Amino acid sequence: MTDRYAVIGNPIAHSKSPVIHAAFAAQTGEPIEYGRILGDPDDFAGDVRRFVAEGGRGLNVTVPFKTAAFELLDDLSEQARAAGAVNTLIVRDGGLLHGDNTDGIGLLRDLTENHGFALAGKRVLLLGAGGAARGVLRPLLAAGPAELLIANRTASKAEALAAAFGQPSDQGPSAPRAPSVAGGGFDSLAGQRFDLIVNATSSGLDDQVPTIPDACLAKGGWVYDLLYADTPTPFCRWGQARAAARVLDGLGMLVEQAAESFWLWRGVRPHTAPVIARLRGG
Ligand code: ATR
Repeated sequence: MTDRYAVIGNPIAHSKSPVIHAAFAAQTGEPIEYGRILGDPDDFAGDVRRFVAEGGRGLNVTVPFKTAAFELLDDLSEQARAAGAVNTLIVRDGGLLHGDNTDGIGLLRDLTENHGFALAGKRVLLLGAGGAARGVLRPLLAAGPAELLIANRTASKAEALAAAFGQPSDQGPSAPRAPSVAGGGFDSLAGQRFDLIVNATSSGLDDQVPTIPDACLAKGGWVYDLLYADTPTPFCRWGQARAAARVLDGLGMLVEQAAESFWLWRGVRPHTAPVIARLRGG
């Protein structure tokens, strides 16, 4: 029997998730169908209820419903709790709804496994302090950078996020050295250098880039934009113009977070490289 999955968002027509999951299903032989649902901004809970009543087994949740999904579900993974958002909903046998968030692990897999960036000991700058930034913070910190600075147009939001994710300084002699986490405005970046700059702002949607100093990118530093587009995003162009050693957009992360959702639903891990290559038109 074919199991039903879907992505729910608004707008949804542009979503690449159905193509990605169809490719995973073809590759693994898993009997699934995967559709798209245009969610009602005023009745997300009703849309979920209907999908489950019709036998749906799982949903990917995208903009603008990730927080609504977090608030709707009682049964949440650690990562969903840390992110304050759900991008993967699993319908358990018996109908219990479980919420998880695979965005952060998607970024980590793309960065470290697909592209070979070693985060341990590195200085990382995370731009933005909204939902996207919050979603990737826990896995980024778990990978053991020396330092993580959150910089945001509105400094107070970055300070609050850093306070929420910073580790208490006294963890005992046997605890692994925790990364230093700080937050501030873009003016706090003067004189600092980073090995990796991750753009988790939505500025690219307005064809803008955060106003950060050119010199924050260390020689040999990498740039990663969580956004992706068919042509280089504004922040990818920023990195190219400043001779970043590598400039990556969020397409790899998109496929990796989908693969992690597929794994949570089906217990099978698809190969992502051919799917990323296909989406890039390769
Ligand atoms: P998302 O879920 O995509 O993270 P969000 O929670 O609305 O969306 O957060 C958007 C983020 O992008 C915020 O950090 C926002 O900065 P502010 O907190 O100062 O609003 C940031 N952002 C949006 N447009 C920006 C711009 N033009 N320059 C810099 N930062 C921008």
